[in-house]
Amino acid sequence: MALNVAADLEKHVDEIVTHYPPQHKRAAVLWLLHLLQEQFGHLGKEQVEWTATKLGLQPINVWELITFYPMFTAKPRGKFHIKVCRTLSCELCGCGGILERLKKKLGVGLDEKTSDGLFTISTVECLAACGTGPVMMVNDELFENLTPDAAETIIDRVKATGKLEQQPLPKPVAPHPLEKRVLLANLTKPNYTGSMDDYVREGGYRSLPKALGMKPDDIVAEVKNSEVRGRGGAGFPCGMKWSFLAKGTGKPIYLVCNADESEPGTFKDRQLLHYEPHQLIEGIVVSCYAVGAHVAYIYIRGEMPYGAKILARAIEEARAKNFLGKNILGKGFDCEIYVHRGAGAYICGEETGLIESLEGKRAYPRIKPPFPAVVGLFGCPTVVNNVETLSNIPHIINNGAAWFKELGVPGSRGTRLVCVSGAVKRPGYYEFEMGKLTMRQLIEDLCGGLKEGRKLKGVIPGGSSMPVLKADQIDVALDFESLRKAGTMAGSGGIIVLDDTVDIVQSTLNVAQFYAHESCGQCTPCREGTLWMEKMLHRIRQGHGRPEDVDLLWDVADNIDGKTICPLGEAAAWPVKAFVTKYRSEFEAACKNGNGSKKH
Ligand SMILES: Cc1cc2nc3c(=O)[nH]c(=O)nc-3n(C[C@H](O)[C@H](O)[C@H](O)COP(=O)(O)O)c2cc1C
Ligand code: SF4
Ligand code: FES
Repeated sequence: MALNVAADLEKHVDEIVTHYPPQHKRAAVLWLLHLLQEQFGHLGKEQVEWTATKLGLQPINVWELITFYPMFTAKPRGKFHIKVCRTLSCELCGCGGILERLKKKLGVGLDEKTSDGLFTISTVECLAACGTGPVMMVNDELFENLTPDAAETIIDRVKATGKLEQQPLPKPVAPHPLEKRVLLANLTKPNYTGSMDDYVREGGYRSLPKALGMKPDDIVAEVKNSEVRGRGGAGFPCGMKWSFLAKGTGKPIYLVCNADESEPGTFKDRQLLHYEPHQLIEGIVVSCYAVGAHVAYIYIRGEMPYGAKILARAIEEARAKNFLGKNILGKGFDCEIYVHRGAGAYICGEETGLIESLEGKRAYPRIKPPFPAVVGLFGCPTVVNNVETLSNIPHIINNGAAWFKELGVPGSRGTRLVCVSGAVKRPGYYEFEMGKLTMRQLIEDLCGGLKEGRKLKGVIPGGSSMPVLKADQIDVALDFESLRKAGTMAGSGGIIVLDDTVDIVQSTLNVAQFYAHESCGQCTPCREGTLWMEKMLHRIRQGHGRPEDVDLLWDVADNIDGKTICPLGEAAAWPVKAFVTKYRSEFEAACKNGNGSKKH
């Protein structure tokens, strides 16, 4: 039977297809699937065939996406899909109790539908809201700082009204005196909303006419001189990355903004997207002009539907002011920005996985070289930068590289946005000059210290893939080099604080489960190794580990480390190796009496 797609939905679909080059209309597929799933509740044979016909694909090209991306489902779910985050920061503050309470209340198991067809409950991986955990999403709404009672009340209200209330964005928090806010400077100004008018009133979009009056190469040189390093995880120098772009190929150049933010513990880009969308748009347009791109895509994770809406609105506002579109500010430069929604899957954050996903495929990272600067999106030279990196660009152009270099320390210029979750009194996001604060100051002063009566056990400094620091290592300065010298990395800026009540074996299991779930499966060491680690840790936690399992676990991690196509292998191996090395006695104690009898 032909699918009955409403005319306005089909019009919307046709408009989205125009965001991509005509020969690459497949790239619109994730958007189409989101829209169809919103209308029909699931993606069955009819939806798949309709999508395939629309985009000139085979149905198998669509099915393979529905099975790859966790946000899509071929099986009808309840009208309200409850997604409880099970990842580390949320586990540390009690998501397990919420899940149990809701399952009991609704009388269903995971991924089952209630008999009235109203609810399905699932676990999901980190929703990039770790500082206000435990969190859950119901359809597009995010509920934060939950308790089992509060979660139950939410469900009761939905049941009684048949509706889901829209959740307001939390009010931005005033800066701590030790903070230095540049990217977040406007957030707490009176009545500031992040709209075009407010942003312009506070000096926004000043860098754009200035940049358009400069030569593109001079902008690249300025960004290079500023020594700004990427804020997405690897810390690669931004200007240098731009200068690697292949020139004179006759192909278009693309800029992609990485707004996937899915490294557990990380929720900093969420703030920039929700509260300062125009700063990012300005940064993207200036960067496009510098590198010779005329089209940019913002790849935003599917679990941030509000972020996608806020960006879409801001893009319209920017187009209305001719800050975007044709002949920007009469300077002869054309530039378009399109928002592209992901659909779950952490691996979409890895830049070549992201490019594959943007092209409408499964997010399988590519073997490098060639690097995206030579063969990237649609086979063209491409630069991929993080939200925070691009948000720095207007400030560098406005104030100059010399000003930027005065902030921070050599090797780590500028400010950094970090986000803290776990056992502190004031979890949240903080911006400060890199290298000017230590981890101890961050935890004890900015975050108000540990929760009452708790002692520090360890800190994960840059998202869950970064090796943990022990309590006696926190006098380290917060910059790229100091953290590297301490045997870890600044990573994504997601800091997770572990107190003395934390069961390290359980936390290692939680982290291992995440990477096993998120491995794309292309490389044997990652696909098999992450599962082995998960199974072994499960066995150890259940009291069946053997004494030799401690070394075996480290060995399995070591056999993944450095032997895979993309760095997810290291991301999975490093935390396990660090936990086992630094808290060995806890693993030994857990393995003392077992006989390895239970497989998992
Ligand atoms: C498994 C994996 C996940 C990643 N996730 C993200 C992410 O969510 N956001 C991000 O900006 N970078 C992420 N990265 C880093 C990107 O590959 C890339 O280095 C970054 O987007 C480049 O931007 P930058 O130079 O501005 O930091 C991830 C890398 C890996 C290996
Ligand atoms: S390391 Fe893991 S996630 Fe990366 S390509 Fe290999 S299997 Fe996929
Ligand atoms: S939102 Fe739950 S761990 Fe990040």
